Amino acid sequence: MTRPDHDDDVSAGPERAFVLHPDIASEAGRRDARAGLAEALSLAAALPGLDVVGGEVVAVRKPQPGTLFGTGKLAELKARLEAEEIDLVLVDGPVSPVQQRNLEKEWDVKLLDRTGLILEIFADRAATREGVLQVELAALSYQRTRLVRAWTHLERQRGGLGFVGGPGETQIEADRRAIDEAITRIRRQLARVVKTRTLHRASRAKVPFPVVALVGYTNAGKSTLFNRLTGAEVLAKDMLFATLDPTMRGVTLETGQRIILSDTVGFISDLPTQLVAAFRATLEEVLSADLILHVRDIAHEESEAQARDVEAILHELGVGEETPRLEIWNKIDLVPGERREALDVLAARRDDVLVLSAHTGEGTERLVAAVTERLDGVRMEAVLDLDFTQGRRHAWLHEQRVVTAERQTETGWRLELRWSRAQERRFNQLD
Ligand code: GTP
Repeated sequence: MTRPDHDDDVSAGPERAFVLHPDIASEAGRRDARAGLAEALSLAAALPGLDVVGGEVVAVRKPQPGTLFGTGKLAELKARLEAEEIDLVLVDGPVSPVQQRNLEKEWDVKLLDRTGLILEIFADRAATREGVLQVELAALSYQRTRLVRAWTHLERQRGGLGFVGGPGETQIEADRRAIDEAITRIRRQLARVVKTRTLHRASRAKVPFPVVALVGYTNAGKSTLFNRLTGAEVLAKDMLFATLDPTMRGVTLETGQRIILSDTVGFISDLPTQLVAAFRATLEEVLSADLILHVRDIAHEESEAQARDVEAILHELGVGEETPRLEIWNKIDLVPGERREALDVLAARRDDVLVLSAHTGEGTERLVAAVTERLDGVRMEAVLDLDFTQGRRHAWLHEQRVVTAERQTETGWRLELRWSRAQERRFNQLD
């Protein structure tokens, strides 16, 4: 393969990119193609250094093994790409290494498939050490399967691992070995990072603050809501993945209850399997959350499908039903009056749904009240010293079955407890 050379020069300005969303007729359970294209365009827009010129849905009756698209379509697109002076084509779906090579040659462009695109975004946004390592690992595994090609951003940023050009068999073998060694090295580093983090988390677990995690589909408004609730400065731009690594803030509720609010990276549909680990690393906090706020863009035409995706991924990640959830129907300000009334009626029937606008602030007070109420029932760890004169309170704690460990001290008892805020309040009201 000869690599297109016209955009090797980083200083040449933004790359002109074009998005193709293949609408494959034979694909089971496919989604609305327009919405698919819209999401792919937003994903592309989230990548810096790209000038996204446009995009189109390409109907594919039967994917061609060599070129994905049929001959007629290939020529038609070639003319279009040439006219628009496109450097980079983003195909919103899987493209095999062979297809990629042929398409790049045919169109004289560079090409990224959906996995490649998401990897680029993850790489751009990863903020913690672990996030960066996970993304590198995913990128290397992905690259290993397509050694004949070059990368765009990742390659530039990291100086590349030298997969450029059309290497012979031996070169490919050598590259593969180099990748395997890099993968082993990263895995080792990751193991260390994870260990340190577990230690940090263990020490934090002693702090009896419940963790409230915001999750949701990308662009649902998590960061905007997080900002509203905490007043913190988080990227709340109209870009997907404005938050890759969880962002945490401590806030105090009116009751005096302190909580940790955690913002997470947005979910996307059809997350490529190679990326699940990288994504999971960013969702660490959700696994240990005491309350999950599932933020939904209720004005989005695919809101239902998005919500199902989010629930499915949470389930895959091992977040059980036992973790209480609230569903936030966000962006209500964008919903027209009639539909809004219908949504209000639906929400009123459920005690786990709140209608809200993170943008205008409407409904946030009710949210805070609901969070407060939910957390009242969450059991937290605590250590309590009682002296021997407090026999009644001591007995009450045992009646409530909240004592997990106990030892006598010189003057009384040291108790380790697991109790809820409600129990704590009742305890404080005892004589
Ligand atoms: P990711 O980081 O990609 O997962 O996105 P996110 O869920 O954190 O979304 P973010 O808060 O960045 O919001 C996405 C876009 O929606 C931004 O342009 C916000 O201004 C907008 N937005 C968020 N909440 C509302 C809302 O209640 N009403 C309206 N009209 N726009 C909103």
